Amino acid sequence: MKYNFGMIGLGVMGRNFLLNVADNNYKAYGLDTDAEKVAALKEEGQGREVDGTTDMATFVENLETPRKIMLLVPAGKVVDIVIHDLLKYVEEGDLIIDGGNSHYNDTTRRVQELESKGIHFIGVGVSGGAKGARFGPSIMPGGNAEAYAKVAPIFEAVSAKVGEDPCVAHMGKGAAGHYVKMVHNGIEYGLMQLLAEAYDLLKQVGGLNNQEIHAVFSEWNAGRLRSFLVEITAAIFAQRDDLTEGDLIDNILDKAKQKGTGKWTSQNAMDIGIPIPTIDSAVTMRGLSALKQERLAADAMHPSPLVDYAEDKAAFIAHLEEATYFAFVVTYAQGLALLADASTEMNLDLNLETTAKIWRGGCIIRADLLEIIRRAYTSNPDLANLMLAAELRQDLAKAQNSMREVLKAAIDRHIPLLTMGSTLHYYDAYHTGRLPLNLVQAQRDYFGSHTYERVDQDGVFHTEW
Ligand code: 6PG
Repeated sequence: MKYNFGMIGLGVMGRNFLLNVADNNYKAYGLDTDAEKVAALKEEGQGREVDGTTDMATFVENLETPRKIMLLVPAGKVVDIVIHDLLKYVEEGDLIIDGGNSHYNDTTRRVQELESKGIHFIGVGVSGGAKGARFGPSIMPGGNAEAYAKVAPIFEAVSAKVGEDPCVAHMGKGAAGHYVKMVHNGIEYGLMQLLAEAYDLLKQVGGLNNQEIHAVFSEWNAGRLRSFLVEITAAIFAQRDDLTEGDLIDNILDKAKQKGTGKWTSQNAMDIGIPIPTIDSAVTMRGLSALKQERLAADAMHPSPLVDYAEDKAAFIAHLEEATYFAFVVTYAQGLALLADASTEMNLDLNLETTAKIWRGGCIIRADLLEIIRRAYTSNPDLANLMLAAELRQDLAKAQNSMREVLKAAIDRHIPLLTMGSTLHYYDAYHTGRLPLNLVQAQRDYFGSHTYERVDQDGVFHTEW
């Protein structure tokens, strides 16, 4: 008997994904150098057509051709090492599928290297964490479309579903899958930081305790902000600490780590010249959070503002809900604007409607809002910016006023709102016909003879200032 699908890397993600494949009536086979992980797969896979080995030759031998071999191993060097080993055994026409959070430049290189050997390399973004992998992730594959078609039925079976729609689709050429996943994570960073800022405001302006904060996020999750991240945020505030009497949230150190996908999003956006200030700010806040000792020392030198709660708490919370909705839309708008430009710039052939469609379920940034976003790109695939979509424009125009109220409250109380603030400044700058950057052009010409264009005549000008 040959197996339909192989997985290399039987950590929790790889094991769960493979069990999901087996649940969908495909014969699934795993490989890991760690015998305990292979044993764990066999144990959990009892009653299903699933097996595993620590030997690569046996693994490859047991797969039907063309082989569909997925890697869920740590991004970076390990992927190259595994590919190098696999090349001794695989044959022309086989598929090597990388499901980790690989950098898209690595994926582009691997596609080229393997295509020249007749092996198809499919870079795939997988979102949804361990639970998603087990019961339905959102899957973002890219690369050779004909090769992808060979594994598409398996991915469609294991993916999350929204109604009948599977949360997987071919994203585009080359490294499109990993590029889309990277931007997904950039948006994820933005939304998470926005919710962290909302928490700070509920606590410091609203004067709410954890139970009350839980209630507010739960209520938001019953409305237009309904999303996975708001849902888990609500749940976090209800979690008691196992080790003390208090709530767990109060005992977690305020230093956020990062694996790099948010930073890569900002780096690439800078490279291709697309502004995504909310995602940049979220990455920056992780950096600021890491400066814990410096922050503590500076805090002690700095007079703290008086504790001063909003007079009308209910009105403030209502503004904050509007502001958070505004900020969510603007964050998706920035990520999608980056995807639109990168698609042309890097010849990825992305489709934003399809992207929004498969993000509606399974992934970390899934949200009801994505259905509105999908519709916006269905009615206008060439939409310059999501903020201009007919279905959202009026809501944003109204909600911006609440964001202004929220920012005013924060500034007076010394509450840092880098990420929320950046959404409003982005919105304002995008809606300003004339910005003061005529002065920047004048300065560049003044000190560097860099020339400038004029508002009243065509051509390039220089002045002896
Ligand atoms: C997902 C997540 C997943 C991972 C993040 C964490 O879509 O399932 O994005 O890929 O949890 O990469 O990223 P940081 O460690 O950088 O916060």
